[in-house]
Amino acid sequence: MSNTFVINGFGGQRKLHGVVKVTGAKNAALKAIAAAVLFRDTVTFTNIPEINDTLRMFDLLKDMGAEVSKTKHGTYAVSLHPDFATELSPGIARRMRASIVLTGPVLARYGKVSFPHPGGCVIGARPLDLFVDGFEKMGARVYIKDGSYIVEAKGGLNGAKFFLKNQSVTVTETFMMAGVLARGITTIKNAAMEPEIAHLAGFLNECGANISGAGTPTITIKGGKLLTGKGRVYKTMPDRIEAGSFLILGALAARELHITNCEPAHLESPIEALRSAGIPIEVKKTEIIVRAPSKIMPIDIKTHEYPGFPTDLQAPMTVLLTQADGESTVFETIFEGRLNYAESLSSMGASITMMDPHRALVRGKTELRGRKLESPDLRAGLAFVIAAIVAKGESVIHNVDTTIDRGYEDIENRLRAIGVGIERVKVLPEVSSMEQTT
Ligand code: EPZ
Repeated sequence: MSNTFVINGFGGQRKLHGVVKVTGAKNAALKAIAAAVLFRDTVTFTNIPEINDTLRMFDLLKDMGAEVSKTKHGTYAVSLHPDFATELSPGIARRMRASIVLTGPVLARYGKVSFPHPGGCVIGARPLDLFVDGFEKMGARVYIKDGSYIVEAKGGLNGAKFFLKNQSVTVTETFMMAGVLARGITTIKNAAMEPEIAHLAGFLNECGANISGAGTPTITIKGGKLLTGKGRVYKTMPDRIEAGSFLILGALAARELHITNCEPAHLESPIEALRSAGIPIEVKKTEIIVRAPSKIMPIDIKTHEYPGFPTDLQAPMTVLLTQADGESTVFETIFEGRLNYAESLSSMGASITMMDPHRALVRGKTELRGRKLESPDLRAGLAFVIAAIVAKGESVIHNVDTTIDRGYEDIENRLRAIGVGIERVKVLPEVSSMEQTT
């Protein structure tokens, strides 16, 4: 049974209004849940977004031997059984790139970990060379057996010095967590600086870790003993990508939209870009108010590691640029497959020319018309929802359960509450022609 969205477009009218509350950040929660392996006792998490990926991360831990109890919406307690296993279930890990961050804590604590090549969004090659190199630098042996990576460090991990050739967020987080239990000092240079990393480090330090420099290009971790969650609660920070997605939607179709429970300081680059496109944006302490202007100016977008323009907002921003009066360019610098949605937007009436796998030219303003679309990944899937809301007529978006539901909690009800005509339809899998004849 797959899920499909049916959306009735506004035909370019500005009809959105009301309040949308931002949930906890997927890419913060997933790593905090994995960090539970560093604790000798129970850890409590709150404001966890109820999305497929967080439920899957909990499933991974349960499959390896953890007690996960949900006390209320978004609140979970996790404790590890004494016989906690060291193999990540291939069936679960293959469906989510973030599963890879579990390898650091598991290897650091138990001296062994095995995992499949993690899956997730098809937005590029998603290599693992920095993980393998890092494990070896910390004294582990890495080999492949029956399609899985086996990593062994019988005497435990030694602190090491890293210089990351690419500022990978999950590589930074994996080795920051591994360093918490390694012998001696671990230094990560050219570390990613996404705010989720500093937020995780802050919580781990409250629980006994010794991490400095998180959020800067150099992170230093002094290895020590298992952490304790006693008397502490992890609160997931607001999801800046979800907030940015609603901001772009509001810039296209809102009379007035209030985006609450967010952290505007984490959205400086998208806010700056939208203001330069002529979007009136009012910023308050934990709220952003946006109104769609009658005219959007063309701009040039170049994605960049934080604090630059986030690659996870690139697809939604391209939808906005199809409605700008003039020529804009989009330069995706991080993932080589992340403009994979452009053809589908063009089928709706957008004018997008691919200059190379990383660059697109967007000519606006073009009228978008409702279409049948296949969501290719989580972020492009949400971009299709935005395009469908702007478009004239009805759109159908397939693969919602394997893409959009991975990262946006209860999205259709939250969109309906601000004026969007959207329905979720459960679709039986296409029966093959053979089955039809028998
Ligand atoms: C994190 O991915 C996010 N995922 C991504 O969000 C986000 O787009 C990205 O940060 C940038 O902000 C999670 O946090 C789970 P990578 P990240 O695969 O940085 C290179 C979403 O939609 N690299 O590590 O961990 C790689 O080629 C997702 O929520 C190596 O070279 O992604 C790329 O250039 C999509 N060798 C860069 O690092 C390696 O071993 C980042 O890629 C690993 C990565």
